[in-house]
Amino acid sequence: MLTPAPRIAQFEKMGFGMFIHWGLYSQLGVGEWTFHLHKRKMEDYKKLMDTFTAEDFDAEDIVLTAKNAGCKYITLTTRHHEGFSLYDTCGLNDFDAPHSPAKRDLVREFVDACNKHGIVPFFYHTTLDWYNKDFENDFDAYLEYLRKSVEILCTNYGKVGGLWFDGNWSKPDADWKLDELYGTIRKHQPEAMIINNTGLDARGCIGHPEIDSVTFEQGRPTPMDRSKMDKYITAEMCYTMNDHWGIGHTDLNYKPPKELIECLCDCRKVGANYLLNVGPGPQGEIVPMQKAIMGLIGRWMEIFGEAIYEGKPYETKSMGKYFMLKGDKCLYIFCYSLSIAGDSNVTTLMGKYTGIYAFSGVKDKIKSIEWMDNGEDLSFTQNGEDLMVNITPMPYGASYCVRVAKAIIE
Ligand code: GLC
Repeated sequence: MLTPAPRIAQFEKMGFGMFIHWGLYSQLGVGEWTFHLHKRKMEDYKKLMDTFTAEDFDAEDIVLTAKNAGCKYITLTTRHHEGFSLYDTCGLNDFDAPHSPAKRDLVREFVDACNKHGIVPFFYHTTLDWYNKDFENDFDAYLEYLRKSVEILCTNYGKVGGLWFDGNWSKPDADWKLDELYGTIRKHQPEAMIINNTGLDARGCIGHPEIDSVTFEQGRPTPMDRSKMDKYITAEMCYTMNDHWGIGHTDLNYKPPKELIECLCDCRKVGANYLLNVGPGPQGEIVPMQKAIMGLIGRWMEIFGEAIYEGKPYETKSMGKYFMLKGDKCLYIFCYSLSIAGDSNVTTLMGKYTGIYAFSGVKDKIKSIEWMDNGEDLSFTQNGEDLMVNITPMPYGASYCVRVAKAIIE
């Protein structure tokens, strides 16, 4: 059986991360693809740099927002497809934050705040580039520029959790010289995860042998079939809170927190990480709605986070959506659509569940089960691998979206 390399095991254990899409495009508030989709001219677009002050970018506030949500790592767009770098490119070009009115290395601030608060920094880096003309005209020169850019990120900022690339799908037939790019990372940051987004059309696909995690962009991950792999590769799903990565001022289509929490659980069910995106406003502030959603997820994580970090996929069958994860001498039972205790004049039972819930294939012998939120014991009977749990309602005053019970095993 394949076992994960330490960096991959550590990544899996972190479970939940925050994605940040922020760049010059954030000033326009119409998504990070606006240059391309709205057919803007680069000579106009690059003027966005003249108004980029980053005055509301408070790395510490961002890191604490992530930390309070229960995130263990943050993946920041150090450079997105527009080609503008939030870091000091050390002379590779002038299209970077230190040359803007911000006059700051924002990646440095981000890394410092992460290190201060025990959050692992990850660097998103585009491979597709709309700014650098070499991308179309002299691809080899472009690849060397890309490699040098990545080398700066790997040598100037201390230990990095990983590099997260995006854009190879834009030239599917090109030779991206990945041995050289990934070799540069392995040389300077041997413990860094290497991830390269395979995009919406190729979710979960494995590429180069150095890749440590496959990606599921905007989609629910499926269980990993490792039978034909040469090494243990893990998975990560990235997800938007509404319909854009970079902020869309008129994107009002926020997903309910319940869906965002359920999705986190769905990821963990198959052992995948969950990378939830925020798109900060024009000068770098996390907008109130996104901050509030992160805060709400944090309240859920405070109560049930142990199950997210410690739980590993556990094969059982149940009659519905409920599932289990295995922890240290315990099982975590994830329960959905629960009813609230009370009076039928005020709490509805429609579509809600209480009562006996059956699982099969439970190979461990259970000693006791209790709700993680209030410690209430749940009665159960176990017959070999068949388990029946008496699911009680949530106490009036609470409603957890997903409620988790912890079963102690022998
Ligand atoms: C896509 C988009 C990009 C976004 C990324 C996040 O590949 O091109 O804008 O950063 O997905 O997964």
